[in-house]
Amino acid sequence: MTAIKTIGILTGGGDCPGLNAAIRGIGKAALTKGGIDIIGIEDGYQGLIENRTKRLGVEDLSGILSRGGTILGTNNRCAPERYYTGKDSEGNGVYENAIDKCMATVESNNIDVLFIIGGDGTFTCTAPLIEQGLPCIGIPKTIDNDIYGTDITIGFTTATRIGTMALDRLHSTGDSHQRVMVCELMGRNAGWLTLASGLASGSDVILIPEIPYEIDNICDFVSQRKGDHSGFSIIACAEGAHAKNGTKVVSERIETSPDPIRLGGIGRQVAYDIEQRTGIESRTTALGHIQRGGEPSSVDRLLATTFATAAFGCALEGDFNKMVVLKDGHIGTQAILEAAHKQRLVPLDSRFISSARAVKTCFGD
Ligand code: F6P
Repeated sequence: MTAIKTIGILTGGGDCPGLNAAIRGIGKAALTKGGIDIIGIEDGYQGLIENRTKRLGVEDLSGILSRGGTILGTNNRCAPERYYTGKDSEGNGVYENAIDKCMATVESNNIDVLFIIGGDGTFTCTAPLIEQGLPCIGIPKTIDNDIYGTDITIGFTTATRIGTMALDRLHSTGDSHQRVMVCELMGRNAGWLTLASGLASGSDVILIPEIPYEIDNICDFVSQRKGDHSGFSIIACAEGAHAKNGTKVVSERIETSPDPIRLGGIGRQVAYDIEQRTGIESRTTALGHIQRGGEPSSVDRLLATTFATAAFGCALEGDFNKMVVLKDGHIGTQAILEAAHKQRLVPLDSRFISSARAVKTCFGD
């Protein structure tokens, strides 16, 4: 057992439902153990660099299990090794290495171990802190479910529920108007969220980055449906989906971000292409940040609490620089650095893909 007097908690990257459940889990485990101060870092690495912290007590941790977002704030634009400080006289961004500032915050708050609740970008930024000797423990979160080494991440099941609900709703309006309804879901370069939501809602076409599509195949499929008893088609389209020989549609570049590319717009393009080629009236809905908002599902609350308490157990054992994972139904750990610079994409032999194909879902390939 390691003697820990003060822990820090940081949420990094895009928010998702279940972050507060994880903060609560770590905090309440520490309070139950006793004699441990809990320091919340505000706004992810930004707060670590700028020494913006707050002490968390039982009053902060109560009543947050079911609350969406993060009580600490988060940030997906800030990398400590490349911290944006403003523009030079020619309008170019100026960056500094702020690792020393992070370590100064750790020291001034007497943090013995830092719990980092984040995704691949957040864990990539953790590497230099570990190199500086800061004991860290990671908890995987993201609606994208794309963190290497874990079968599931906090936020994914809630976002899937939201995606499924949206696709369900598009069914009735698509049916009424006999239209093609394209729904664009988030997920960055991974198709997990679209695949799961599409399969759960019985979408007719599922487009994911891992399976590049041919527009003619999609057009043939929806035209055939138009001619049979169905009449309408529902298309679940990942923001990272792209045509064979095509590229992903980028909506924005955020240079200060560890991952500057923001995807978006493919749903509109698919709907346009279908309408142009088939003459079938087509509409697009982009779910956007609705998928990240609101209260976590019970599965995410369970996962967050289980991950959090397992992570706290690692801290007590002195098992540092590990990320807790769920692999083949078991909670385990892997080195945080294993998750850095990697993405867990949908394997082409995924059970979800074969199940979808078995019920005649079109992937456009
Ligand atoms: O990684 C989570 C995620 O929601 C992605 O699915 C999406 O591509 C991205 O973040 C959006 O980022 P932002 O909140 O900066 O628009």
